[in-house]
Amino acid sequence: MTALAGAVGGSVAGTASAGDGEMPYLVNGKYDFDTVYNRIGSDCVKWDSQIAKYGDKVKIGMGIADTDFRAAPCIGEAMAERLKHENWGYLGIEAYDAFREVIAEWNQDRYGLTLDPSTLQIATGVHPGLVASIKTLSPAGSKVLLMTPTYNGFYSDLRNTRTLKNESEMIFENGHYTVDWDDLEARMTPDTQTMLLCNPQNPTGNVWSQEDLLRIGELCLKHQVVVLSDEIHGDFTRAGQKFTPFASLPDKAIVNNSLSFRAITKSFSMPASKNAYWFSTNPVLLERVKKNHQAGINTLGIVANTAAYQHGKEWLDQLLVYIDDNHTFVENYIKENMPEVGYTKAQGTFLCWLHFDGIMEKTGVVEKSVASQMTDNPMTASNLFEDWLVEHSGVQLNDGEGYGKGGERCMRMNVGCSRKVLGMALSSIKDAIRSV
Ligand SMILES: Cc1ncc(COP(=O)(O)O)c(C=O)c1O
Repeated sequence: MTALAGAVGGSVAGTASAGDGEMPYLVNGKYDFDTVYNRIGSDCVKWDSQIAKYGDKVKIGMGIADTDFRAAPCIGEAMAERLKHENWGYLGIEAYDAFREVIAEWNQDRYGLTLDPSTLQIATGVHPGLVASIKTLSPAGSKVLLMTPTYNGFYSDLRNTRTLKNESEMIFENGHYTVDWDDLEARMTPDTQTMLLCNPQNPTGNVWSQEDLLRIGELCLKHQVVVLSDEIHGDFTRAGQKFTPFASLPDKAIVNNSLSFRAITKSFSMPASKNAYWFSTNPVLLERVKKNHQAGINTLGIVANTAAYQHGKEWLDQLLVYIDDNHTFVENYIKENMPEVGYTKAQGTFLCWLHFDGIMEKTGVVEKSVASQMTDNPMTASNLFEDWLVEHSGVQLNDGEGYGKGGERCMRMNVGCSRKVLGMALSSIKDAIRSV
């Protein structure tokens, strides 16, 4: 057990850790998301990589977008069953076929979306499908359209494909982000063949309406820009919000001008099971991208994901209520205790996009960032603020500038954790802010 565990008010140290099978899954007939599940020592990025970077200074990892919860019991049970067979040879194509059927059933039941299983392309993550699509459709040196602030990982996909960012910054007004329609359309120039749409949007938490998606789709069709709809956060919508898969839009031509990228790995606390899928209703697009795509699967990954699709629905439904309450908790806490931080309750995802405008200036990171531009190690203000927060509060958040234009004074906080940990993180951030 590291210093980190003890530092979280002793609560992490005293609770179950990876491999501890004695902790009950249910409390009062409900899945238990409250008891802190200690991930330290499991080589996870969210906690262990932060300890590796910051040492004892970091107390609570609230960054990388995976959740801290113990996975649904059906997942561990299915993997334990498979472990009884001790050979891990190549998987046959039949396994992929059965898996495609399970994915199609999930989409039909949960979103009323009918998918042809034979069109589903299995991948080791959302990124490989995105990269294959950009490589196919956007020549090196051309631009890829993004609505910012947007998922920071998209920028590595651009580096990987030697394409350039074409950032349409969203309008931020009264705590809400909306599309800047004029700017978006103006950027659909002949050097831009694809648009990376984050649906729902990481990090702002926007759950795009059918109306918004249709309007984006119409513009893209008009200007011959193919929509790449990353829907990995699709399962995470708050009560009253509805996730609209791009492929479910009621306009065939718009849908045929798109590819969709999905996974349930985030939904079920298992992104390292390396599993995702992508598809298009347009056979020409599908066949073109397939030529650049290396399908992949691993034995335990397919077992875990199949179990989640088949038996995890109730667990996920309960998780969504918990996450929704976490968002409310953050909103109320900020309103009552640190109103100088800007936060509007996200419509979806398990991420909070926090505005630290005046606070960053006060801490001196803005000035430091300006001075650093003349050195060999130029740093952004939000990068420096990430370090400042760790130093002064022990909490690690993700720096906003990594999410593109408009993220300069923001930080992303993950609320996919026990409310106890969330409360401690917020309280530590508040104390740090009060100290300046
Ligand atoms: C919007 C978005 N897309 C893709 C990913 C990564 O997907 P994968 O691990 O399946 O490649 C993330 C992870 O944070 C994400 O937020």
